[in-house]
Amino acid sequence: MVHKVKGAVVRAKNADVTLETILVPDPGPGEALVDILTCGVCHTDLHYKQGAINDDFPFLLGHEATGVVSAVGPDVTEVAPGDRVVLNWRAVCGECRACAKGQPQYCFNTHNATQKMTLEDGTELTAALGIGAFAEKTLVAAGQCTKVDPEADPAAVGLLGCGVMAGIGAAINTGNVKRGDSVAVIGCGGVGVAAVAGAALAGATTVIAVDIDPKKLERAKDLGATHTVDSSAVDPVEAIRELTGGFGADVVIDAVGRPETYKQAFYARDLAGTVVLVGVPSPEMTLELPLLDVFGRGGSLKSSWYGDCLPSRDFPMLIDLYRQGKLDLDAFVTERITIDQIEEAFGKMHAGAVLRSVVEL
Ligand SMILES: NC(=O)c1ccc[n+]([C@@H]2O[C@H](COP(=O)([O-])OP(=O)(O)OC[C@H]3O[C@@H](n4cnc5c(N)ncnc54)[C@H](O)[C@@H]3O)[C@@H](O)[C@H]2O)c1
Ligand SMILES: [Zn+2]
Ligand SMILES: [Zn+2]
Repeated sequence: MVHKVKGAVVRAKNADVTLETILVPDPGPGEALVDILTCGVCHTDLHYKQGAINDDFPFLLGHEATGVVSAVGPDVTEVAPGDRVVLNWRAVCGECRACAKGQPQYCFNTHNATQKMTLEDGTELTAALGIGAFAEKTLVAAGQCTKVDPEADPAAVGLLGCGVMAGIGAAINTGNVKRGDSVAVIGCGGVGVAAVAGAALAGATTVIAVDIDPKKLERAKDLGATHTVDSSAVDPVEAIRELTGGFGADVVIDAVGRPETYKQAFYARDLAGTVVLVGVPSPEMTLELPLLDVFGRGGSLKSSWYGDCLPSRDFPMLIDLYRQGKLDLDAFVTERITIDQIEEAFGKMHAGAVLRSVVEL
């Protein structure tokens, strides 16, 4: 059977998001059909709309979602109808060279649904990050469903499906932040503020939030920043050095992803420190750095895809911390909106008015 539901689609580069009837097939082998409850609006959805990820239009947007499994394919055992799940974009294969080395967080062959969702005229949709959850129902690989506590607020925990996990993981997994470390986070949107929260959770004693928008800095303080730097007014490299005894931070996280913010991160870290790039650059961007500085300053330059998370390990652990009051996921939900307000939500994101707008379906 094919299900006809409403979904938020972008048909061409920079076109407005339109609500379309989409056709979602019943799950085949290895697949699960999920009724979506909530889905956050992430900057990556905007990157898709702008054609900055790839040109495979039309896109079915949305990928930070909580839902309830409504049907599974014949061979699926890990989830069952009725399970509350957060969707993930890292359903590990168990067989690639990364998985074989015991490093499934780098899996090079993650699973998505095999069947395609389409528009009514049969045009195949590309689901954002293999999820496509600005829709009443979506079809994913069963491994993309991480079972979670049904008591937790779906809007809050769904954000672990992308941005919040990416930020927390950039600090605790990729950056390996330890008790007593100094950490600076450049760019304090949903991802950056999550990195601030992750650094605080890991026991960093100096957590410096940097943004060009003072509103973002206030929210970062609520989530664990010990200091803030408005980089539209002062040189963030100097400011971070001053706040760390003149040395620079042990870990600097770039949650913007532009050459200028990466350079700030590079020079704002201490000798032998770590830079983590979690913001996503666009294709035309290039980076120029004196190679002698790359060598001379030592340390490591890392990139963080999805916070190097393993959804099955990290989502339930972070939801436990949330339910114990140690991680304030509610603070990321700035507003709850309906599916016809996504375009407006992009505008608010651009204006810096929200950490996350969450669509309730
Ligand atoms: N690596 C991953 O797995 C992953 C996952 C999700 C999102 N992302 C990426 O992370 C980035 C941030 O996403 P978001 O949802 O938090 O976006 P957002 O738009 O909510 O936040 C971006 C923040 O950066 C600030 N900013 C912009 N330019 C700046 C500058 N020059 N200096 C300092 N601050 C600046 C903005 O004021 C804003 O607060 C995006 O590039 C997104 O695509 C990466
Ligand atoms: Zn793999
Ligand atoms: Zn995202």
